Amino acid sequence: MIVDSVSQQRACYDLCKLKDAWRTGAAGVGEARTVVRPSVTVSYAQTLDGRLATAGGSSQWISASDSLALAHGLRAEHDAIMVGAGTVSKDDPRLTVRLVPGRDPLRVVVDSSLRTPPDASVLSGGAAPGTLFAVTDCAPNGRREEVRSLGATVLCLPDAGGRVDLSALFAALGERGVGSVMVEGGSELITALLRDRLVDRLAVCVAPKILGSGIEAVGDLGIRDLDHSLTLADVTLSPCGPDFLLDGRVEYPEDPRER
Ligand SMILES: NC(=O)c1ccc[n+]([C@@H]2O[C@H](COP(=O)([O-])OP(=O)(O)OC[C@H]3O[C@@H](n4cnc5c(N)ncnc54)[C@H](OP(=O)(O)O)[C@@H]3O)[C@@H](O)[C@H]2O)c1
Repeated sequence: MIVDSVSQQRACYDLCKLKDAWRTGAAGVGEARTVVRPSVTVSYAQTLDGRLATAGGSSQWISASDSLALAHGLRAEHDAIMVGAGTVSKDDPRLTVRLVPGRDPLRVVVDSSLRTPPDASVLSGGAAPGTLFAVTDCAPNGRREEVRSLGATVLCLPDAGGRVDLSALFAALGERGVGSVMVEGGSELITALLRDRLVDRLAVCVAPKILGSGIEAVGDLGIRDLDHSLTLADVTLSPCGPDFLLDGRVEYPEDPRER
């Protein structure tokens, strides 16, 4: 059974409790086993006017160096760190915790057609064994073999609207013992996760900068009424150099489809 209703997500917010639930859920032979999907934190840096990057896709760096170290500290608290193929293509991130002590989390790239090139930082320089690619049937076999030969894991998942089914991805990560995932972007992945109500916690670094037009942090969620806004609870607001870190638990409005 995959636990993913909104109320259960809230109950699973506490990361320690969630890990305990996973451990106690690992039942013996013949017993029903409960697989808890990982808790999901979405974290990104945005300008005051809600931009993740310039219109040309440049985002390094929106936040100041203190905030970057904080982001690496947050990475180190999670079992896995996830980004979309667009971010890998544009930023070529290493997805490590090099600015703080700690172990590198599992790197997860959501990449339906496996378009990430072999020289990307998540595959080169010895990084491949710590990287998992979530793909769909449209990823060519030749590319899968190439990426596997470098040492990375390729996980083929059902597609939803032509892209990786994100609920299936979290279920598969839960099956592999991943208790917490930090998603760092970009815009399309963040939007899809919020639309699918899969985000438990938001940790947003707000930099005192204004870009005007640019890539929006969160795209269309289909919300047309203020009463249907997603809200944050248990919010903390902490200064970090010139930036502010806003951290809170995501609460979703009642879904009319569940009435
Ligand atoms: N300021 C920050 O903190 C920050 C952080 C990260 C990124 N960024 C910026 O964000 C920009 C990249 O964002 P982006 O929106 O273009 O790319 P993205 O969200 O990183 O990746 C989107 C891609 O992921 C793949 N994907 C597979 N399944 C998906 C699903 N179910 N839902 C959504 N995406 C799925 C799709 O490519 P396929 O169809 O090929 O699978 C999709 O085009 C860059 O400019 C980067 O600099 C900023």
